[in-house]
Amino acid sequence: MNIKGLFINGESVIKQRTYDLRSPYNGESIATISMADQEDVNRAIDGAQAAFEVMKEMHAYQRSEILLRVVQIFEERKEELARVLVQEAGKPIRTARGEIDRTIATYQLAAEEAKRIYGETIPMDAAPGGENRIGFTWREPLGVVVAISPFNFPFNLVAHKLGPAIAAGNTVVLKPAEQTPLSAYLTAEIFQQAGLPNGAVQVVAGSGRELSDALIMDPRVKKITFTGSSQVGKAIKAKAGLRKVTLELGSNSGLIVEPDVPLEKVIQRCVEGAFSFAGQVCISLQRIYVHESIYEDFSKRFIEHTKQLKLGDPSEETTDISAMISSQELERIESWVTEAVKQGAKIGIGGARNGTIFPPTVLLNVKRDMAVSCQETFAPVVSIVPYKKLDQAINMVNDSVYGLNVGIYTQNIINALHAARKLESGGVIINDIPTFRLDHMPYGGVKESGYGREGIKYAVEEMTELKFVTMKTTF
Ligand code: SIN
Repeated sequence: MNIKGLFINGESVIKQRTYDLRSPYNGESIATISMADQEDVNRAIDGAQAAFEVMKEMHAYQRSEILLRVVQIFEERKEELARVLVQEAGKPIRTARGEIDRTIATYQLAAEEAKRIYGETIPMDAAPGGENRIGFTWREPLGVVVAISPFNFPFNLVAHKLGPAIAAGNTVVLKPAEQTPLSAYLTAEIFQQAGLPNGAVQVVAGSGRELSDALIMDPRVKKITFTGSSQVGKAIKAKAGLRKVTLELGSNSGLIVEPDVPLEKVIQRCVEGAFSFAGQVCISLQRIYVHESIYEDFSKRFIEHTKQLKLGDPSEETTDISAMISSQELERIESWVTEAVKQGAKIGIGGARNGTIFPPTVLLNVKRDMAVSCQETFAPVVSIVPYKKLDQAINMVNDSVYGLNVGIYTQNIINALHAARKLESGGVIINDIPTFRLDHMPYGGVKESGYGREGIKYAVEEMTELKFVTMKTTF
């Protein structure tokens, strides 16, 4: 049997301990995946540390050139890579192609950012004692970065970690999500082909707390960048000590719809925001607060649009929504919806699983403390709730432990900016869904949605250390 090995120091390392990678859609076996243990982690970090000696001497234009070659290879292999997402993540092919396009943009941005890692000059004479001195800063790479990535954007969220890390001259040990290791191995192979020194990107697939702890607790690791649940994020931060961390965590993104907007266009966009990749997106639209004067019309038309979505095989061109990533996730969301209904919620459409697919589900009469509202659904489930006054809607959006992207649709600029100021979140999207993201935008959350920012320029800042240098110009 063909076993996929770990990727350590540029070589494939086959392990005795393996797991069977299966399609989330039809359960077919895709590959047998080697599982890393503590010894592998140790070797991977050793190798990454040795490679850092090479990376830190590499010039910015050389790091940029490697990233540009990565872009070129991704361009050449676009369709093949999109098909990997279809297989291992169950991502519908059109959505998968969109992810590859974004991944290319992310590496392109990283290639550009590698050449713009600036410092600044400090006016030393701003304080007495600073006469006849110059001062300036530059940014230095940190060393070995541990990256732990999720299943939902297996290429692009890896790119958001590898791109800035390599742009800044670091090395990376990557632990991909258990469900999506193939995309991570392909990425590492592409970096190798692009000329990255062996050891500068290591990939150790596997599962379990022991493996993660071996990565996180190793004192040679200078930074941990993680995308995933708030619960795991908090545990990582507690274990990281004084080392740097970036945590991109969950949310239950809220959106306000004021009555002064072109409803048809807004509804179409909201349907996309709520159900793209079956809602398995950190900034998936989960709570829509609609002004009471348009609530009935909005809900009715939203349900009509939802009915048009096509469920099925992710490899088919016409499929909008396919399988949830696992049976546990299906069961979890089904039980949350059942519980909400018991507590008084009304199902507008959807609500019960269909094989491995959870259909797009619209809930009405949802109360703030139902799990489908106050927790992250990470599933194609959205609630539509009426409000009377804008400030009431702002409070309802803020009534959350999360704060990643939130949004407001309105043509009234005063109301838009009032909301932007009052909303408690890392990002406010005006006149689009909270699900909107371009890969150079600063991206990250407040409250339980995270710590630090991604978006290449911001991630480079988080993956470098500021060094200050001052010199006396007279003796
Ligand atoms: C995420 O789900 O964390 C990222 C969403 C995106 O990049 O669009």
